Amino acid sequence: MSGKTKVAILISGRGSNMKSLIQAAKDKEYPAEIIGVFSNRADAAGLEFAKDHGIQTAVISHKDFESREAFCDALDEQLEAWGAEFICLAGYMRIHSNAFAEKWLGKMLNIHPSLLPLFKGLKPQQQALDAGVKVSGASVHEVIPELDAGPIVMQGVVPVLEDDDADRLAARILKIEHQIYPKALAHYLKVQTNTDRSAAADQSLIWPQ
Ligand code: GRF
Repeated sequence: MSGKTKVAILISGRGSNMKSLIQAAKDKEYPAEIIGVFSNRADAAGLEFAKDHGIQTAVISHKDFESREAFCDALDEQLEAWGAEFICLAGYMRIHSNAFAEKWLGKMLNIHPSLLPLFKGLKPQQQALDAGVKVSGASVHEVIPELDAGPIVMQGVVPVLEDDDADRLAARILKIEHQIYPKALAHYLKVQTNTDRSAAADQSLIWPQ
């Protein structure tokens, strides 16, 4: 028994946030163990990195199912087979069935590249540029059935510069994503398991400090 929470990561593509979680979990003090990486796309680049690091992977295509519910049931079966206790979404581009989201409520985090509740959904970096904000960033939040709407666990802030386009802003935000996601997961798990919740809650929830 490692005493660590068994975490599955769900991806759909590049997987750079997945990498930052895998790297962080190598620390023996880290409260989570990454026990599997799931993708709904066989060509997700992140799968190779996971395999190279000795982490089991699974691919189930949503296209093989007639409904969102049926696909999420198959995903859930895979997670149960792995013995997953917690889920981190990392660039996972599928909306969950309500049943799936409700089953994993309080046991599933997501990272979104905006300062939620601003700029939910697709192209949040372009939404930030269009709105003319001077700062943006990333948010780690609990997943609830409503998209990008669960309670915020941690946020990281970056400036929006005069000559930014969506790609430049996305690259700046991505760097802060890689810093906050491992910290947010560790923090969240500690708060959940700590009987003295105030001790964990004392830590700053904003990054950079
Ligand atoms: C990240 O910007 C994440 O916040 C968003 O999708 C992107 C995924 O990037 N949900 P990666 O696959 O983690 O590199």
